[in-house]
Amino acid sequence: MKHLLSLEAISGTDMRLILDRVAGFKRDRATHARPLTGQTWALIFSKSSTRTRVSFEVGLRELGAQVLFLNAGDIQLGRGEPIKDTARVLGRMIHGAVIRTFAQSDVEDFATYAKIPTVNALTDDEHPCQILTDIFTYEELRGEPITGKTVTFVGDAACNVPVSWIWAAARLGFTLRLAAPRAYWPAEAIVKRAAAGGAMPWSGYHEAQVVERLEIGSGMLELLTDLNLAARQADLLYTDVWVSMGKEAESAQRLTDLAGYQINADLVKLAKRGALVMHCLPAYRGKEIDEATFEAHADTIFTQAENRLHTQKAIVDWMVG
Ligand code: CP
Ligand code: NVA
Repeated sequence: MKHLLSLEAISGTDMRLILDRVAGFKRDRATHARPLTGQTWALIFSKSSTRTRVSFEVGLRELGAQVLFLNAGDIQLGRGEPIKDTARVLGRMIHGAVIRTFAQSDVEDFATYAKIPTVNALTDDEHPCQILTDIFTYEELRGEPITGKTVTFVGDAACNVPVSWIWAAARLGFTLRLAAPRAYWPAEAIVKRAAAGGAMPWSGYHEAQVVERLEIGSGMLELLTDLNLAARQADLLYTDVWVSMGKEAESAQRLTDLAGYQINADLVKLAKRGALVMHCLPAYRGKEIDEATFEAHADTIFTQAENRLHTQKAIVDWMVG
């Protein structure tokens, strides 16, 4: 049985198998196959969502399924029923699950105990559906593979979105630059696991370090505190919120620490001519991106949002196929 619990857990071959199916689902939206006919899938969400919720509800229906949306706070899970018990109940009634929650271990436990195809729709650790969509969108808009390109992420480089980008770079063979203050670089344990797939041993972070460059699988990971260096000659500039869901208590500190880690016209000028600018959304203008740059690249950003629908159909089709 296949799940999509993280990008760390899937191979580059499987990423390609998924990506190769997306264009067909987009082109043949009205006529494609309905492999989930007769099935019921549940979305179980412990965090807010606009894009993920709507794209999965619509996408699963268009694949033929009936869909239940379960706000975790409305079911006994929210009152402390263990995830493994919730999973064993739902696993006897439904055919697949899409889960947005805090702990990565919760989606993994759900998949283990429910024994039904399970998708990570965002945890504190990863956002795999988003990054597969972003890569499809890059390749769709550019007409060439992301392999060999340079992707620069600016902002909170320790959160779920950049971490999923690390695994995509390792498997698909591109350079990922993460520009963030030192305290917002990814956890050392994650970088260690990624570096273990490269040829050079990695000894860990050093004090007062401002740049790191290491092999990860077939890609490269560059960590920098200097966003201007990171943006140089990039093919894609990417950002995400400074305050991820669950980090609201740290808002004031984060706004201070991350001030300046913004995609704006000055930064775009340093990237390759015609570089794409993406944002996973929701966007906070004046923080991780300025209004003018957001609007100048709105067509790319909302194509990215639309592509969640098509990419997630390809993910589910790969899981049940
Ligand atoms: N990008 C994303 O996952 O958006 P939502 O939080 O609205 O689902
Ligand atoms: N890093 C963000 C992504 C939102 C789609 C969060 O976790 O809130």
